[in-house]
Amino acid sequence: MSVGIERLAVYVPSYALPMADLAAARGVAPEKYVQGLGVEQMAIAPPCEDVVTLAATAGARLLRAARIDPRSIGMLLVATETGVDHAKPVSIFVHELLGIGPRCRVYELKHACYAGTAALMTAADWVRAGGIRTRRALVIAADIARYELGSAGEPTQGAGAVAMLVGSEPQALVLGEESGTHAGNVYDFWRPLGRREAIVDGKYSVDCYLDALTGAFGAFRSLERPALEPDEALTDRLARLLYHTPFPKMAMKAHRRLVEVDWRAARERWAAVEGRLDEAAAASYRDLVAPSLVAASRIGNTYTASLYLCLASLIEAENRALGGRRLGLFSYGSGCCAEFFTGIVPSGVATVSDAGVATALRQRTLVDVEQYERFVRAGDVGGDTPAGFTGDFVFRGVRQDRREYQHAEALAA
Ligand code: CAA
Repeated sequence: MSVGIERLAVYVPSYALPMADLAAARGVAPEKYVQGLGVEQMAIAPPCEDVVTLAATAGARLLRAARIDPRSIGMLLVATETGVDHAKPVSIFVHELLGIGPRCRVYELKHACYAGTAALMTAADWVRAGGIRTRRALVIAADIARYELGSAGEPTQGAGAVAMLVGSEPQALVLGEESGTHAGNVYDFWRPLGRREAIVDGKYSVDCYLDALTGAFGAFRSLERPALEPDEALTDRLARLLYHTPFPKMAMKAHRRLVEVDWRAARERWAAVEGRLDEAAAASYRDLVAPSLVAASRIGNTYTASLYLCLASLIEAENRALGGRRLGLFSYGSGCCAEFFTGIVPSGVATVSDAGVATALRQRTLVDVEQYERFVRAGDVGGDTPAGFTGDFVFRGVRQDRREYQHAEALAA
């Protein structure tokens, strides 16, 4: 039985800040952000947008595009590290806004940026366990990445949501059944209760990411070894490699590490690249990784959604050329847990390739640093929609101990 992603839909906030403007305001060379980190713009959520509206808008667009009756969804999982309540999950608000029926397993998952993958794997296992009964899950990864104004992390913010329909008729990605995993308690990035912005040990977080990649990819490679020819590199069997992307330069560093691990294990390949590893890894990065990073460089970090934003953007850009080809995917969540897995893009992918990425990017309004700081300082208190708002749902604020949400159309009427 093939199980995987039937279709994806992306939603990003309607506002974006050019990184060159942020660099000028912070007295930093623009090249540091644009070339050094690889980020051109970052998505900014206005006060009337929270993780619920992000997730619900992505979910609503997915259900509309797939023409799925919301009541046929038997499992709704929302992965986020931007939760709005310690007890009530984001998923139950989304459940109501999308009109999903009562016969549904609904919950929120957390493990930093890894939770999107935890949700996808849980949903895939649930579909497989249904056997011949058709089961369909809705998985949504949604986040607002926030660091202190003026901090080193500030240029690596962003926001967005990716919704994925998981079922037994996967037209976007058939998931492989094996994964390589890696976990361990590290303090690279965390957000203690009551804090709005994350605390991060930036350089250490990069090292933790790379160590976790070595562990997860090494574990996957061992599982795959019996299928490989002696001295064959696993990367030669993959058409594209997608990474959790807090900023695109991180994906470049990750790929350099991954090919080193892979090629070292393939002795002939290693002999051929030894002494010019950086050059060979850079060429491999241009072919296998760069095509999936276009959206991330214009949206920034979307935490749980980041890897799946790369997937949606890649499928949208390359669609039928990926048909029948195998992708490698690496998910990392600080703290930490990581997973390397693969999937095959079905030949009919063109019918589901529009995930709304290009449309969302086209519809955005660029803001200046002053406006960005106004949004950040106001906090996610809810309220009216600013000019140019394109989301389907609006957070109106907390009133009489309830979080109030409204359809944007109803508000405009
Ligand atoms: N022209 C071109 N490049 C320049 C430059 C210039 N004028 N000035 C600096 N650069 C380059 C640097 O050489 C560096 O590139 P390399 O890493 O390839 O050497 C790059 O720009 C960044 O410079 P710094 O390393 O000096 O930047 P920094 O220390 O100020 O901050 C950061 C970088 C640590 C990633 C910081 O942005 C941060 O803390 N971000 C949040 C944490 C994060 O994203 N961690 C990633 C791994 S953890 C994870 O993935 C989970 C998650 O989502 C958070």
